Amino acid sequence: MEAAKMILLLVPFCFLKVADTTAINPCCYYPCQNKGVCVNVGKDGYECDCTRTGYYGVNCSIPSFWSSVHKFLKPSPSFVHHILTHYQWFWDILAGISFINDSLMRYVLTARSNLIPSPPTYNSDYNYLSWEGYANVSYFTRLLPPVPKDCPTPTGTQGYTELPDVKQLAEKFLLRRKFIPDPQGTNLMFAFFAQHFTHQFLRTDFDRGPGFTKALGHGVDLSHVYGGSLERQHHLRLFKDGKLKYQVVNGDVFLPSVTDVPIKMKYPHTLPEEKRLAIGHDLFGLIPGLMMYATLWLREHNRVCDILKGEHPTWSDEQLFQTARLILIGETIKIVIEDYVQHLSGYNFKMTFNPELLFHEHFQYRNRIAVEFDHLYHWHPLMPNSFIIKGQEFPYEEFLFNTEILLNVGLEALVESFSKQRAGRIGGGKNIHENILPVSIGVIEHGRQLRLQPFNQYRKWFGLTPYKSFQELTGETEVAAQLEKLYGHIDAMEFFPALLLEAPYENAIFGESMVEMGAPFSLKGLMGNPICSPDYWKPSTFGGKTGFDIVKTATLEKLVCLNVKKCPYVAFHVPHDVDNESERREREPSTEL
Ligand code: HEM
Ligand SMILES: *[C@@H]1O[C@H](CO)[C@@H](O)[C@H](O)[C@H]1NC(C)=O
Ligand SMILES: *[C@@H]1O[C@H](CO)[C@@H](O)[C@H](O)[C@H]1NC(C)=O
Ligand SMILES: *[C@@H]1O[C@H](CO)[C@@H](O)[C@H](O)[C@H]1NC(C)=O
Ligand SMILES: *[C@@H]1O[C@H](CO)[C@@H](O)[C@H](O)[C@H]1NC(C)=O
Repeated sequence: MEAAKMILLLVPFCFLKVADTTAINPCCYYPCQNKGVCVNVGKDGYECDCTRTGYYGVNCSIPSFWSSVHKFLKPSPSFVHHILTHYQWFWDILAGISFINDSLMRYVLTARSNLIPSPPTYNSDYNYLSWEGYANVSYFTRLLPPVPKDCPTPTGTQGYTELPDVKQLAEKFLLRRKFIPDPQGTNLMFAFFAQHFTHQFLRTDFDRGPGFTKALGHGVDLSHVYGGSLERQHHLRLFKDGKLKYQVVNGDVFLPSVTDVPIKMKYPHTLPEEKRLAIGHDLFGLIPGLMMYATLWLREHNRVCDILKGEHPTWSDEQLFQTARLILIGETIKIVIEDYVQHLSGYNFKMTFNPELLFHEHFQYRNRIAVEFDHLYHWHPLMPNSFIIKGQEFPYEEFLFNTEILLNVGLEALVESFSKQRAGRIGGGKNIHENILPVSIGVIEHGRQLRLQPFNQYRKWFGLTPYKSFQELTGETEVAAQLEKLYGHIDAMEFFPALLLEAPYENAIFGESMVEMGAPFSLKGLMGNPICSPDYWKPSTFGGKTGFDIVKTATLEKLVCLNVKKCPYVAFHVPHDVDNESERREREPSTEL
């Protein structure tokens, strides 16, 4: 009897013990290398599917002959980056040889795009392939599936059972002490372009959750100009000559007000109706830099409509509108590759937008925005301590929600001021202004909610060697030691914080991982646009040779200067002579936190 009781008492403990050692989901160890797929088999087994990875073995870790050759010959990304950002004379010689020009650009485009699965694979609710995951475009896709819910730690098996306190993390490592200017000379014209351009496809639908998007076009569709729904678009249109509605203030064309365009826009409650300007994206009224770009694209759309109407007087309003939209999409992609990415990369190799380069490659003309891309693009360190417009300094409180600035100073002055003010360095840490630090806190929290895999897993996916220590990540010892204490292990380090805390390249805006992870998403999104496909990329799509030429010769400078009376200084970097002036301003103690 006593013995039976003893056994009864012990039984649950035995079970517990057994459960403890057998219940760990083997996929939590990320056993499958080289993009092999981990599948649970039986109660506690797993299998790696190595199909078409070029590797075999239980964990897809044994290379086939060709994979070893390829691995041996492949130069490291940091070496390639060094070559691309140095030796100007070498690149000057190559630029003269069109065959090499084109082959290099083709290689850049295919090597980068091939890293992005297309059609898309996982999403935040489906860590295996499924029709729902493919077909429901309200989800952001996921490059890597979520960390299984039954893993011992939030990032798998490494690190502690709890991740570091987010607020503490942000304040210790991300909060700006003193403005750190971007060594590449990036200006606010660039920063607001980045924000304006990306918000057409990065629009988290927080009502549904951080894994969902409101931007169903999943790419460059200019929904931030034309509205995300047909209803919104129709409100914004003049229905005459293909044009958008506008208003004239002091002789210049600006966005219409919501009295004329009854659509939902987010504005401070106190602002009267006639001062609320209407734009495709409902939040763009709140930041003068976004209003500026919205106005530029509005003027550009109507300018292009006039040109098209001149060539095709018989065309309907609808055809003029639709054709102008395709032209503006083309202009956007051209400007992003040849002005924006060119500046950002710091490459001496001159990049070109030429869709024909991909016509003989296996390339899918489709795109799905990944949640990792959304997180990666939180470039809030770009924002300065205050905004200097025509010599007048605006702190955040007077800049944000200030709907008057644009109308008061005009487009030219705003472009010139933003082009001359230096932006902050994105990588390296400790460079986010306290007013927008909550956004970074938010993105880290969302990363946890979404159970993003740890940073090193993403390093591996993009063909990079996983970091072995925090010192290797940050390139120093002090921050590294603090991070190690908080995370316990480098394989538990989170995606977004690691991108910002990685050591930047020398004299560059950020480090290796931001480049190697950002570029594939970006180039796939740009070249995957339907206008880049063989059936679209021809003059008739853009209303004939004139329209096609507008696309093929678009620049940031033309976007501004063809739409203002007097052409201001406009670029994505500060001019060399005011470079030091803006730096000095930022160094003054009064503007320090
Ligand atoms: C003063 C300027 C800025 C302010 C006040 C601001 C503020 C915000 C806020 C409040 C959010 C929403 C965060 C959330 O609800 O979780 C956000 C999201 C975001 N911001 Fe900024 N931001 C600024 C500048 C920028 C810049 C220059 C970029 C450059 C790319 C940027 C990129 C993003 C991205 C990618 C998101 C995520 C969008 C989404 O998924 O919906 N922001 N920002
Ligand atoms: C496969 O990976 C698991 C988990 O990381 C490891 O324990 C095992 O030794 C590996 N097996 C082989 C054959 O490499
Ligand atoms: C190579 O590319 C550069 C930059 O686009 C261009 O200026 C140059 O004319 C090209 N060279 C040839 C021979 O096509
Ligand atoms: C997509 O998935 C979400 C979440 O399950 C659901 O609410 C929504 O209705 C789905 N959308 C469509 C078009 O089925
Ligand atoms: C800024 O100052 C540095 C020296 O402090 C000088 O080398 C540089 O030419 C100046 N102007 C720039 C980068 O525009």
